[in-house]
Amino acid sequence: MEDLTDRVAVVIGGGSGIGRGIALGLAAEGMRVVVADIDAASAEAVRDEVAAAGGRATAAGVDGTDRQSLGRLADDTVAEHGAVNVLSTNVGVVADRPLTTASEADWAWIIEFNLLSAVRAVDVFLPRLRASGRAHIVITASLAALLAPPSVAGIHLGLYTATKHALLGYAESLRGELAGEGIGVSLLCPGMVQSNLAATSARHRPARHGGPLPPPPAREPLATSMAPEAVGPVVVRGIRSNRLHILTHPASLGLVDARHATLVDDFAFFADA
Ligand SMILES: NC(=O)c1ccc[n+]([C@@H]2O[C@H](COP(=O)([O-])OP(=O)(O)OC[C@H]3O[C@@H](n4cnc5c(N)ncnc54)[C@H](O)[C@@H]3O)[C@@H](O)[C@H]2O)c1
Repeated sequence: MEDLTDRVAVVIGGGSGIGRGIALGLAAEGMRVVVADIDAASAEAVRDEVAAAGGRATAAGVDGTDRQSLGRLADDTVAEHGAVNVLSTNVGVVADRPLTTASEADWAWIIEFNLLSAVRAVDVFLPRLRASGRAHIVITASLAALLAPPSVAGIHLGLYTATKHALLGYAESLRGELAGEGIGVSLLCPGMVQSNLAATSARHRPARHGGPLPPPPAREPLATSMAPEAVGPVVVRGIRSNRLHILTHPASLGLVDARHATLVDDFAFFADA
């Protein structure tokens, strides 16, 4: 989708971190941005930040894991703005559990937040995206959709990695299904970005998954972490060029190459019967 000016974007999980960076980036291109978050106050703060930078945004509270709540967001967006052209899904959680001790409850929580939240948002918004003519969906996954990092900053990432890999298969398949309709689909695969993910994961764990967890210890952002404001322009570029993968850390190619090499090697091993 080349021309973003005056078009409408909905950024779910837009009150913090990567979603905030995307909201700021899309607004800087002249889009009207609906910043939606379970923490409505954070969405309002980002709305005000957009306005202070000369952009246009509104704020909304939403539970991105709940179809009814998403439905109200979609209805309100169309009522207020007339269309939805870009959908950005950012809801996700990180749970520090080794796979060998993860429980059914751990899996249910992380699958719902990391995978099903995107599926539900797409299901609910797709009729509005179709009705709006040209549209684009950006699903935030992670570099962990493309490789299997054992841990980052001591946090076990197996549950996270498995669900982010599922998003890769989902987004790529969805892109194929929607290709004939003028609706682009991209998977955003960031490396480390400064955010509040550990804290919001703990704070917003709903009662059906065991309720909020104690706040995690505060950690200094890794020196190599990207500023969320730098993510927005990369996403804009990905939407404009309708790329399948949107990559904020291209220097990570070596890690993906190394992983791919093991796959190629396994093919060669079994071809050599
Ligand atoms: N920070 C990183 O290094 C990094 C890297 C790769 C991918 N990601 C992914 O980016 C996405 C955003 O994470 P972040 O790091 O920016 O974290 P963040 O905590 O800063 O932002 C997440 C936002 O989602 C909101 N949220 C949580 N539950 C919600 C719900 N049910 N409904 C609506 N909003 C909800 C939170 O309130 C918060 O504003 C996640 O999917 C995460 O896995 C993060």
